[in-house]
Amino acid sequence: MDEPFDSSSSLRAGKLRVKSPVGGSPNKDAPSRRDVFRMFDRIAPRYDLLNHLLSFNRDKAWRRKMTLLLPSKANLTLLDLATGTGDQLLSLYDSGKIVSGVGVDPAEGMLAIGREKIERRKLTSALSLIPGSAEELPFGDRSFDVVTISFGIRNVTDVDLALREMHRVLKPGGRALILEFSLPRNTVIRHGYLMYFRYILPLLGGFISGDREAYRYLNQTVESFPYGDQFTELMLEAGFCDVKHTPLTFGVATIYQGDKL
Ligand SMILES: C[S@@+](CC[C@H](N)C(=O)[O-])C[C@H]1O[C@@H](n2cnc3c(N)ncnc32)[C@H](O)[C@@H]1O
Repeated sequence: MDEPFDSSSSLRAGKLRVKSPVGGSPNKDAPSRRDVFRMFDRIAPRYDLLNHLLSFNRDKAWRRKMTLLLPSKANLTLLDLATGTGDQLLSLYDSGKIVSGVGVDPAEGMLAIGREKIERRKLTSALSLIPGSAEELPFGDRSFDVVTISFGIRNVTDVDLALREMHRVLKPGGRALILEFSLPRNTVIRHGYLMYFRYILPLLGGFISGDREAYRYLNQTVESFPYGDQFTELMLEAGFCDVKHTPLTFGVATIYQGDKL
Protein backbone atom coordinates (compact mmCIF):
# COMPACT_ATOMS: atom_id res chain seq x y z
CA MET A 1 0.00 0.00 0.00
CA ASP A 2 1.44 3.39 -0.87
CA GLU A 3 1.34 5.73 2.09
CA PRO A 4 2.37 9.27 1.16
CA PHE A 5 2.34 10.66 4.65
CA ASP A 6 4.59 10.49 7.63
CA SER A 7 3.13 9.32 10.94
CA SER A 8 0.59 11.42 12.84
CA SER A 9 3.13 12.17 15.55
CA SER A 10 4.57 14.87 13.29
CA LEU A 11 1.13 16.50 13.30
CA ARG A 12 1.15 16.58 17.07
CA ALA A 13 4.47 18.35 16.96
CA GLY A 14 2.67 21.11 15.01
CA LYS A 15 4.82 20.46 11.96
CA LEU A 16 3.94 18.20 9.05
CA ARG A 17 6.78 16.18 7.54
CA VAL A 18 5.65 14.89 4.18
CA LYS A 19 6.71 12.77 1.26
CA SER A 20 5.63 13.46 -2.27
CA PRO A 21 2.48 11.42 -2.91
CA VAL A 22 3.58 10.65 -6.44
CA GLY A 23 7.30 10.17 -6.77
CA GLY A 24 9.73 9.15 -4.11
CA SER A 25 11.12 12.63 -3.58
CA PRO A 26 12.55 13.40 -0.15
CA ASN A 27 10.51 14.79 2.68
CA LYS A 28 9.87 18.49 2.72
CA ASP A 29 8.26 20.72 5.33
CA ALA A 30 4.60 21.52 4.82
CA PRO A 31 3.73 25.23 4.63
CA SER A 32 3.14 27.03 7.91
CA ARG A 33 -0.48 27.43 8.99
CA ARG A 34 0.29 30.31 11.29
CA ASP A 35 -1.85 33.37 10.48
CA VAL A 36 -3.17 31.69 7.33
CA PHE A 37 -6.50 33.41 7.99
CA ARG A 38 -4.91 36.66 6.73
CA MET A 39 -4.53 35.02 3.34
CA PHE A 40 -8.22 34.09 3.39
CA ASP A 41 -9.08 37.70 4.23
CA ARG A 42 -7.19 38.77 1.11
CA ILE A 43 -9.01 36.37 -1.22
CA ALA A 44 -12.44 36.64 0.50
CA PRO A 45 -14.17 38.64 -2.32
CA ARG A 46 -13.33 35.94 -4.90
CA TYR A 47 -13.43 32.91 -2.57
CA ASP A 48 -16.93 31.59 -3.41
CA LEU A 49 -16.55 32.09 -7.15
CA LEU A 50 -13.22 30.25 -7.18
CA ASN A 51 -14.57 27.43 -5.04
CA HIS A 52 -17.33 26.72 -7.56
CA LEU A 53 -15.12 27.25 -10.60
CA LEU A 54 -12.07 25.26 -9.55
CA SER A 55 -14.11 22.33 -8.19
CA PHE A 56 -16.40 22.32 -11.28
CA ASN A 57 -19.27 22.98 -8.83
CA ARG A 58 -18.59 19.71 -7.00
CA ASP A 59 -18.24 21.67 -3.75
CA LYS A 60 -22.02 22.18 -3.71
CA ALA A 61 -22.68 18.44 -4.00
CA TRP A 62 -20.08 17.66 -1.31
CA ARG A 63 -21.74 20.12 1.07
CA ARG A 64 -25.14 18.54 0.43
CA LYS A 65 -23.65 15.12 1.12
CA MET A 66 -22.64 16.45 4.57
CA THR A 67 -26.31 17.15 5.33
CA LEU A 68 -27.17 13.49 4.62
CA LEU A 69 -24.81 12.48 7.44
CA LEU A 70 -26.42 14.67 10.11
CA PRO A 71 -27.78 12.76 13.12
CA SER A 72 -31.35 11.59 12.57
CA LYS A 73 -33.02 13.64 15.34
CA ALA A 74 -34.60 17.04 14.64
CA ASN A 75 -33.86 20.53 16.09
CA LEU A 76 -30.11 20.09 16.07
CA THR A 77 -27.78 22.78 17.39
CA LEU A 78 -24.80 23.26 15.07
CA LEU A 79 -21.31 24.69 15.36
CA ASP A 80 -19.49 25.16 12.03
CA LEU A 81 -15.75 25.77 12.43
CA ALA A 82 -13.58 27.56 9.85
CA THR A 83 -16.95 28.67 8.53
CA GLY A 84 -15.46 31.21 6.10
CA THR A 85 -18.20 32.75 3.96
CA GLY A 86 -20.81 30.47 5.56
CA ASP A 87 -21.67 28.19 2.63
CA GLN A 88 -21.42 24.98 4.66
CA LEU A 89 -23.42 26.45 7.54
CA LEU A 90 -26.18 27.59 5.15
CA SER A 91 -26.22 24.29 3.28
CA LEU A 92 -26.63 22.37 6.56
CA TYR A 93 -29.34 24.79 7.71
CA ASP A 94 -31.22 24.14 4.45
CA SER A 95 -31.59 20.48 5.49
CA GLY A 96 -34.40 21.66 7.80
CA LYS A 97 -32.87 19.73 10.72
CA ILE A 98 -30.93 22.62 12.27
CA VAL A 99 -32.68 24.84 14.82
CA SER A 100 -29.71 27.15 15.40
CA GLY A 101 -26.16 27.45 14.09
CA VAL A 102 -22.99 29.34 14.93
CA GLY A 103 -20.07 29.75 12.54
CA VAL A 104 -16.56 30.48 13.85
CA ASP A 105 -13.58 31.72 11.82
CA PRO A 106 -10.62 34.04 12.49
CA ALA A 107 -10.94 35.76 9.08
CA GLU A 108 -13.23 38.79 9.49
CA GLY A 109 -13.23 39.44 5.72
CA MET A 110 -14.69 35.96 5.09
CA LEU A 111 -17.22 36.36 7.95
CA ALA A 112 -18.41 39.73 6.56
CA ILE A 113 -19.43 38.01 3.30
CA GLY A 114 -21.11 35.21 5.25
CA ARG A 115 -23.06 37.70 7.35
CA GLU A 116 -24.38 39.40 4.21
CA LYS A 117 -25.71 36.05 2.98
CA ILE A 118 -27.40 35.34 6.32
CA GLU A 119 -28.97 38.81 6.39
CA ARG A 120 -30.11 38.54 2.76
CA ARG A 121 -31.88 35.28 3.61
CA LYS A 122 -33.34 36.78 6.85
CA LEU A 123 -31.83 34.03 8.97
CA THR A 124 -30.21 36.23 11.64
CA SER A 125 -32.42 34.82 14.39
CA ALA A 126 -31.14 31.28 13.70
CA LEU A 127 -27.58 31.74 12.41
CA SER A 128 -24.67 33.86 13.62
CA LEU A 129 -20.97 34.17 12.78
CA ILE A 130 -18.28 35.01 15.30
CA PRO A 131 -14.50 35.44 15.08
CA GLY A 132 -12.44 32.69 16.70
CA SER A 133 -10.11 29.76 16.29
CA ALA A 134 -10.96 26.06 16.13
CA GLU A 135 -8.15 25.48 18.62
CA GLU A 136 -9.69 27.59 21.38
CA LEU A 137 -13.47 27.52 21.25
CA PRO A 138 -15.38 30.06 23.32
CA PHE A 139 -18.06 27.52 24.30
CA GLY A 140 -18.67 25.35 27.32
CA ASP A 141 -18.42 21.55 27.34
CA ARG A 142 -21.35 19.64 25.81
CA SER A 143 -22.90 22.64 24.00
CA PHE A 144 -23.80 21.35 20.50
CA ASP A 145 -25.42 18.37 18.80
CA VAL A 146 -23.23 18.69 15.69
CA VAL A 147 -19.81 20.23 15.03
CA THR A 148 -18.64 20.56 11.42
CA ILE A 149 -15.55 21.85 9.67
CA SER A 150 -15.28 21.97 5.88
CA PHE A 151 -11.96 22.52 4.13
CA GLY A 152 -10.73 23.97 7.41
CA ILE A 153 -9.04 21.29 9.52
CA ARG A 154 -6.10 21.34 7.07
CA ASN A 155 -5.55 25.00 7.97
CA VAL A 156 -5.27 24.80 11.74
CA THR A 157 -1.85 24.78 13.38
CA ASP A 158 -2.60 22.08 15.96
CA VAL A 159 -4.93 19.50 14.42
CA ASP A 160 -5.10 17.30 17.53
CA LEU A 161 -6.09 20.24 19.70
CA ALA A 162 -8.83 21.29 17.25
CA LEU A 163 -10.20 17.73 17.21
CA ARG A 164 -10.20 17.60 21.02
CA GLU A 165 -12.00 20.95 21.13
CA MET A 166 -14.63 19.62 18.72
CA HIS A 167 -15.09 16.60 20.96
CA ARG A 168 -15.26 18.74 24.12
CA VAL A 169 -18.07 21.03 22.91
CA LEU A 170 -20.20 18.17 21.57
CA LYS A 171 -23.04 16.83 23.67
CA PRO A 172 -22.95 13.10 24.45
CA GLY A 173 -24.48 11.40 21.40
CA GLY A 174 -23.38 14.33 19.24
CA ARG A 175 -21.57 14.05 15.90
CA ALA A 176 -18.56 15.65 14.25
CA LEU A 177 -18.48 15.90 10.45
CA ILE A 178 -15.29 16.92 8.68
CA LEU A 179 -15.09 17.59 4.95
CA GLU A 180 -11.58 17.90 3.60
CA PHE A 181 -9.63 17.51 0.39
CA SER A 182 -7.84 14.20 -0.09
CA LEU A 183 -6.06 12.47 -2.94
CA PRO A 184 -7.42 9.75 -5.23
CA ARG A 185 -6.06 6.30 -4.35
CA ASN A 186 -6.09 5.17 -7.97
CA THR A 187 -2.61 5.92 -9.31
CA VAL A 188 -3.69 6.96 -12.81
CA ILE A 189 -6.46 9.26 -11.56
CA ARG A 190 -4.13 10.67 -8.90
CA HIS A 191 -1.48 11.56 -11.46
CA GLY A 192 -4.02 13.35 -13.66
CA TYR A 193 -5.53 15.12 -10.68
CA LEU A 194 -2.15 16.24 -9.37
CA MET A 195 -1.28 17.74 -12.76
CA TYR A 196 -4.43 19.85 -12.50
CA PHE A 197 -3.95 20.57 -8.83
CA ARG A 198 -0.26 21.53 -9.00
CA TYR A 199 -0.10 23.44 -12.24
CA ILE A 200 -3.49 24.53 -13.60
CA LEU A 201 -5.33 25.34 -10.37
CA PRO A 202 -2.65 27.71 -8.95
CA LEU A 203 -2.51 29.51 -12.30
CA LEU A 204 -6.29 29.95 -12.59
CA GLY A 205 -6.77 30.66 -8.88
CA GLY A 206 -3.89 33.12 -8.86
CA PHE A 207 -5.17 34.91 -11.96
CA ILE A 208 -8.76 35.31 -10.72
CA SER A 209 -7.99 36.05 -7.05
CA GLY A 210 -4.86 38.09 -7.74
CA ASP A 211 -3.11 35.97 -5.07
CA ARG A 212 -1.04 33.19 -6.60
CA GLU A 213 0.46 32.27 -3.23
CA ALA A 214 -2.99 31.36 -1.84
CA TYR A 215 -3.58 28.73 -4.49
CA ARG A 216 -0.07 27.32 -4.20
CA TYR A 217 -0.76 27.01 -0.47
CA LEU A 218 -3.92 25.03 -1.32
CA ASN A 219 -2.15 22.28 -3.19
CA GLN A 220 0.82 22.19 -0.79
CA THR A 221 -1.41 21.77 2.26
CA VAL A 222 -3.62 19.15 0.62
CA GLU A 223 -0.64 17.09 -0.50
CA SER A 224 0.88 17.21 2.97
CA PHE A 225 -2.22 16.39 5.02
CA PRO A 226 -3.24 12.90 6.19
CA TYR A 227 -6.38 11.41 4.71
CA GLY A 228 -8.40 8.22 4.86
CA ASP A 229 -7.36 5.80 7.60
CA GLN A 230 -4.58 8.08 8.80
CA PHE A 231 -7.02 10.87 9.52
CA THR A 232 -9.60 8.59 11.14
CA GLU A 233 -6.80 7.48 13.46
CA LEU A 234 -6.42 11.09 14.66
CA MET A 235 -10.16 11.28 15.32
CA LEU A 236 -10.06 8.09 17.37
CA GLU A 237 -7.14 9.49 19.38
CA ALA A 238 -9.18 12.64 20.07
CA GLY A 239 -11.90 10.48 21.67
CA PHE A 240 -14.42 9.97 18.85
CA CYS A 241 -16.13 6.63 18.35
CA ASP A 242 -17.82 5.01 15.32
CA VAL A 243 -15.38 6.89 13.11
CA LYS A 244 -15.97 6.43 9.38
CA HIS A 245 -14.88 8.09 6.19
CA THR A 246 -16.56 8.47 2.82
CA PRO A 247 -14.42 9.37 -0.21
CA LEU A 248 -16.15 11.66 -2.73
CA THR A 249 -15.53 12.18 -6.48
CA PHE A 250 -12.74 9.59 -6.95
CA GLY A 251 -11.36 10.54 -3.55
CA VAL A 252 -10.51 14.20 -4.23
CA ALA A 253 -12.50 15.02 -1.08
CA THR A 254 -13.50 12.92 1.93
CA ILE A 255 -16.10 13.26 4.67
CA TYR A 256 -15.06 11.99 8.10
CA GLN A 257 -17.67 11.30 10.73
CA GLY A 258 -17.21 10.55 14.40
CA ASP A 259 -19.57 10.41 17.37
CA LYS A 260 -19.19 11.27 21.04
CA LEU A 261 -20.29 8.64 23.51
C1 LIG B 1 -10.79 26.89 2.68
S1 LIG B 1 -11.61 27.95 3.81
C2 LIG B 1 -13.08 27.05 4.17
C3 LIG B 1 -14.27 27.93 4.44
C4 LIG B 1 -15.61 27.22 4.55
N1 LIG B 1 -15.65 26.26 5.61
C5 LIG B 1 -15.99 26.54 3.26
O1 LIG B 1 -16.33 25.36 3.30
O2 LIG B 1 -15.99 27.19 2.22
C6 LIG B 1 -10.66 27.74 5.26
C7 LIG B 1 -11.04 28.63 6.39
O3 LIG B 1 -10.28 28.24 7.55
C8 LIG B 1 -10.12 29.39 8.33
N2 LIG B 1 -9.11 29.16 9.38
C9 LIG B 1 -7.78 29.30 9.32
N3 LIG B 1 -7.22 29.01 10.50
C10 LIG B 1 -8.24 28.68 11.34
C11 LIG B 1 -8.31 28.30 12.71
N4 LIG B 1 -7.23 28.17 13.45
N5 LIG B 1 -9.53 28.05 13.24
C12 LIG B 1 -10.64 28.15 12.49
N6 LIG B 1 -10.63 28.52 11.20
C13 LIG B 1 -9.44 28.78 10.62
C14 LIG B 1 -9.74 30.46 7.31
O4 LIG B 1 -9.87 31.75 7.80
C15 LIG B 1 -10.72 30.11 6.18
O5 LIG B 1 -11.90 30.87 6.24
